[in-house]
Amino acid sequence: MPLMVWDDSYSVRVDKIDQQHKQLFRLINQLHDAMTQGKGKEVLNQIFDGLISYTSSHFSDEERMMTAYGYPQTASHRKEHESLVTQVSELQKEHASGKLGVSIQTRDFLKSWLENHIRTVDMKYAPFFQQKGAR
Ligand code: FEO
Repeated sequence: MPLMVWDDSYSVRVDKIDQQHKQLFRLINQLHDAMTQGKGKEVLNQIFDGLISYTSSHFSDEERMMTAYGYPQTASHRKEHESLVTQVSELQKEHASGKLGVSIQTRDFLKSWLENHIRTVDMKYAPFFQQKGAR
């Protein structure tokens, strides 16, 4: 059973962003599957790298869109993104150095961060983007 299951309560009503969030769910599920299958550190590192790189590119897209539409809370939203990137980079370093339990900690952290971020922070721009006609 996947760790993260998408439902409509996560939709921000902008298709491009929803697709990216769904991909983040898939990547976290991939990490979870690799862990439950007992995959080695190298495989986990590869998945981490992919997840971090996709997250950064999603954040950039979202920030570009907020800037383009003149979203008033762009600066505080960007700070939330920066904070996540910093925290995950730290966890990734710890994982790469062989510290035990970091993959579980990272997976659980990402899962709850993403759920919470989409439902509270991202969701705030949904009506704004809708009003601007973003899809
Ligand atoms: Fe979808 Fe603000 O990240």
